[in-house]
Amino acid sequence: MEELQKIKRDTDFIYQKISKVVPEIEWAVHAPYIYKINRLKKEKNAVILAHNYQTPEIYHGVADFSADSLALAIEASKTSADIILMAGVHFMAETAKLMSPDKKVILPDMNAGCSLSSSITGKDVRLLKEKYPGVPVVSYVNTSAEVKAETDVCCTSANAVKIVKSLGVKKVIFLPDDYLAKYVASQTDIEIISWKGICVVHDQFSKQEIDDIRKNNPGIKIIAHPECPPDVIQASDFAGSTSGMIKYVKDNQPKKVMMVTECSMSDNIQIENPNVDFIKPCNMCPHMKKITLPKILDCLENETGEIIMDKETINKARISVERMAAIGR
Ligand code: 13P
Ligand code: SF4
Repeated sequence: MEELQKIKRDTDFIYQKISKVVPEIEWAVHAPYIYKINRLKKEKNAVILAHNYQTPEIYHGVADFSADSLALAIEASKTSADIILMAGVHFMAETAKLMSPDKKVILPDMNAGCSLSSSITGKDVRLLKEKYPGVPVVSYVNTSAEVKAETDVCCTSANAVKIVKSLGVKKVIFLPDDYLAKYVASQTDIEIISWKGICVVHDQFSKQEIDDIRKNNPGIKIIAHPECPPDVIQASDFAGSTSGMIKYVKDNQPKKVMMVTECSMSDNIQIENPNVDFIKPCNMCPHMKKITLPKILDCLENETGEIIMDKETINKARISVERMAAIGR
């Protein structure tokens, strides 16, 4: 069979699914990459874990598992694949390596970072611990492994409140997202010592924007990520992790919805929720968008972008992630 026919045979069913959000002219470019990546995955016993912010051709075309940060970390600990390719950002690949230290973990672009993760170092955490002796440190999963190694327990936006409450203490150091810290503080009586990190994507949303959307779209449901400014969250109908937001739409099937988060989320789930009208003012994550199909293929072919960490960091950091996983959502 000719190569073109094989590509068509192995990818047409994917396009049937995503044709509403990916124009045919773009699909012609994506399909050969999807075909090659999916074949190579089998040959190499590799798995592709993709964050919910990946573009539809990655999310629906090559990902074996797509989810929020928490579920990606848990899935990385369970996989029997030899290679884990993280279609996401650097801290997610590091977290996968912590959870599967014997596996080869690769990232298609080592510059896919995160403004929250880069806002704090291990040294900063050590200084905070000196300043507040005995106060437990909870770090958002959007942190480097060296920060996790200084952390008592990690959390994600899906379980931040639960994790902080589970410690049973009066005061907690919560890093590095200042808005998420405020959100947690609003849901508990615990004193929260925060850090001034922000997500460059969610920080761009404003209450004014939410109010305007509501005025122009009566009955709309507005759902926000907890990394948004507190007044945006307050003006929304629901706040939750990326998977929490997806579940909200799936369970509630609102007539019209706006997801106050990264752009690809609405595109990815519009396909599975054809009766929901998505209003799409959104902001793009420049880091997530560094991951593309050509880079995934190159990374898988040459096994480049390997996450390498020393054993001590891995072992110390893993404890904080395992504690989080044990507490769960
Ligand atoms: P989730 O943990 O909700 O997937 O969020 C990760 C992230 O980077 C959001 O900006
Ligand atoms: Fe980091 Fe924000 Fe991008 Fe998420 S959306 S990876 S928090 S910069």
